[in-house]
Amino acid sequence: MKMIARQLVSSIGFVVLASAGAAAAPIPELIQKDGRYALMVDGAPFVMFGAQAQNSSNYPLALKKLWPAIKDMNANTLEIPVAWEQIERVEGKFDFSYVDTLVAEARKNKVRLVLLWFGTWKNTGANYAPEWVKFNNQRFPRMLDKEGKPIYCLSPQGEETLKADKKAFVALMTHIKKIDEAHRTVIMMQVENEVGTYGYARDYAPKAEALFNQPVPDAVLKRKKSPVALAASGTWKQVYGDYAEEYFHAYSIASYIGEIAKAGRAVYNLPMYVNNSIRDPLEEPVKPWNKNFASGGPTFDVIDIYKAAAPAIDFAAPDIYSPDSKKFVATLDKFQRPDNPLAVPEMSNAAEYVRYAYLVLGRGAINFSPFGIDYADYSNFPLGHKATDKTMVEPYAKIYSVFRPMERQWSRWAFEGRTYGVAEGDDRAPQTIAMKGWKGTISFREWQFGEREYFKDVKDLPANTEKPNGGVAIAQIADDEFIIVGQYARVKIDQADGKPTMWARVEEGYYDPSGKWVMERNWNGDQTDYGLNLTGKPVVLKVKVGTY
Ligand code: DGJ
Repeated sequence: MKMIARQLVSSIGFVVLASAGAAAAPIPELIQKDGRYALMVDGAPFVMFGAQAQNSSNYPLALKKLWPAIKDMNANTLEIPVAWEQIERVEGKFDFSYVDTLVAEARKNKVRLVLLWFGTWKNTGANYAPEWVKFNNQRFPRMLDKEGKPIYCLSPQGEETLKADKKAFVALMTHIKKIDEAHRTVIMMQVENEVGTYGYARDYAPKAEALFNQPVPDAVLKRKKSPVALAASGTWKQVYGDYAEEYFHAYSIASYIGEIAKAGRAVYNLPMYVNNSIRDPLEEPVKPWNKNFASGGPTFDVIDIYKAAAPAIDFAAPDIYSPDSKKFVATLDKFQRPDNPLAVPEMSNAAEYVRYAYLVLGRGAINFSPFGIDYADYSNFPLGHKATDKTMVEPYAKIYSVFRPMERQWSRWAFEGRTYGVAEGDDRAPQTIAMKGWKGTISFREWQFGEREYFKDVKDLPANTEKPNGGVAIAQIADDEFIIVGQYARVKIDQADGKPTMWARVEEGYYDPSGKWVMERNWNGDQTDYGLNLTGKPVVLKVKVGTY
């Protein structure tokens, strides 16, 4: 990840390369300015209006059931696994035929790719490691429990495991560079998937035991303060007390992943991240691990340990499978930090999560990707949607269809800190947004006409609002101008200091491919007298406000 000043260097580098007839576009990279992030793709900020495939769709023939879903959703990015077991089924013999098909078909379908490296760990387990790895405990040790019995999870202390995983990942990055350097279809890598260990705090094998009793490395001490004041330095237990086992395991896994990422980036320097199965973001104070989440995964409490141990990893991101609105917002709060960009690489595709598209994208995320976007006839209900057909993608498609024509503008506004987002809360209450000089008020379950108090006897409520379903994203594109998109919500904008406000223009329209705004109509009269009322058919509004 680079600070913005260094981007200039890479742009200059690109000019030189281009004139020499080499790479067509600069390599994707993450840049940071004032604590905000942009993923640069083809030299400009790019937000992923993404979709993640199901776990077993990573085979050339299986892709046939995937592309129609990606097209129906109107996604610009597909996240999909590349499994160690499929590229190195026999040790040392690499087969990249799936990667070749995937990349070629992604180009035909005009989407970018994020490849998910399912190596040593996929949801903490070894399922995606090749058979020659997962059944050879001698060479590729499993973690041991306190009684010395091997458990399901491969040990992060396994030197041979790390060597073998790294070799496969480097081979993959070498291949991607070879086939994609001139295209940049692959824009990011996820290294492993939802790592950590369920049910066990850490490895208790002699090697891990010895390391646990060593002093905490300086890099960790510098970044990670103990939640309870103990020794300033010493062993993990002395410094971190009851938190020590989780922290040590996080350090062990992060170091392992960091080595793999570093080796892969040395070959082809794509941005890389880790995802995690989250812990409760509302727990206050944050308690020591108690079998309540995967110990050692990049949960919010150990982001600093990952930063210290794995500098080749750009960020940690949450996978969100709890629809509770307070938890959803709190999770975003925990992961969006000046040193950690916001990205949601996985979220349930169930109906009650649709509203969060506006919240996540409005908060300036670089990636928003619901999971299981695929017509492979597998539903992960009750975690996700029951349907495995078009009805599952339609609600997202509607949203992506309004954003996509202005995706590059939106990406730039997000990087400039001009965007805001809300999702209807489970309490259905109105919410306010503090913008530069203006206050946005977003309310829900309103009719398009009139104020609630005019029609006290009307008990009807708008259709499709039985469950929280509203959301709004706003970009403040000038001091008094806004781009507004949303659904099932009423938007009002007032002067922050209370001066009377009037709409100057409320244009409904779209940005054309050349980036020019095209107005379809100007909302006025009934359409603006009671705020801007957004229905289940999202539109783009370009709004100007004034005071008198
Ligand atoms: C989170 C994992 O990262 C995904 O691969 C998938 O298994 C979902 N959980 C559940 O469908």
